[in-house]
Amino acid sequence: MIVFSPGVVKLFGEHAVVYGKPAIAAAINRGVRVRCVRSDRTSIRAGKAHVDLEYDADRGSARAMGAERFLSYALASLKTAERAFGPLKASFEIEGDFPPGVGAATSAATSVGVIKAYAACAGADVGKEELAKLGHAVELEVQGAASPMDAAVSALGGVLRITPYPFSYKRLRPVGRLALAVLPRRGLTKDIVADVRALKTRRKSVDSVIDAIGAVVSEAEQCVEAGDLECLGELMHINNWLLGALGVVDDDVISLLKHLRPFIYGGKISGAGRGGVVVLLPRRPEVEEVLSGLGIPAYAVEVDELGARVL
Ligand code: PMV
Repeated sequence: MIVFSPGVVKLFGEHAVVYGKPAIAAAINRGVRVRCVRSDRTSIRAGKAHVDLEYDADRGSARAMGAERFLSYALASLKTAERAFGPLKASFEIEGDFPPGVGAATSAATSVGVIKAYAACAGADVGKEELAKLGHAVELEVQGAASPMDAAVSALGGVLRITPYPFSYKRLRPVGRLALAVLPRRGLTKDIVADVRALKTRRKSVDSVIDAIGAVVSEAEQCVEAGDLECLGELMHINNWLLGALGVVDDDVISLLKHLRPFIYGGKISGAGRGGVVVLLPRRPEVEEVLSGLGIPAYAVEVDELGARVL
């Protein structure tokens, strides 16, 4: 049994969403595949690195060898799934289309994928909204703070306008093809979010930047619904400069967007920033080629309308 859970790109509103503003994000056709087979013990294999996990449900203790950070998501997902669907012994194999931590919500897709696979393997049915909630609980447990955006979009699929607190969503029209450029990422989401919080505490005027991002999201929603790519591209640039004011857009992103200007309607960081994924709305078909010429890993992606599912 194999589950696919889509990665997520943030089109508008990241960081401001942490302070209650709405955001628009899209599930994409690249993400994470989780294979689950019932077994006499629980183990997790990820990519080429075999990670062995021993989890004692009675004591609530775990011992693991391998990538600790990745494992913390997988382990928290197993515990969450066990609480929700009862005990299960199974082997899980996780395979991702992106390197972890680039900003394509690999952690949320992993959590959502493992929980969905666990439920399917245990013969339980999990609704998309319940899955979104459980995935968010894992993100909160591992990261300390996280908006419900990534887990919700990976679980539900499509282009969603998210209102974070209390959580609600609205399905928007698909946006067509996107291009992703992956730059080296400097810093973890958790630390970058903490830096923005510190800046906001130090400087009152940062509240206006957050409000402005909220206004961009509202305007962008109308452009998505109208299928107006010129408008979307322009607003992506504006959103990116506002994120720059929060200190999360580095010079390499600015130079890249300047270089790509003739080939795109617009572009911006996707996620916490300081490198990582840059999402681009292509105007001309050769965007990925131009990126490859610059030695930058590039992916053409489409919106995934279905969200996490058994294949
Ligand atoms: O860097 P990512 O893909 O984990 O995205 C973080 C998005 C933020 O808005 C900065 C934080 C959040 O929890 O929504």
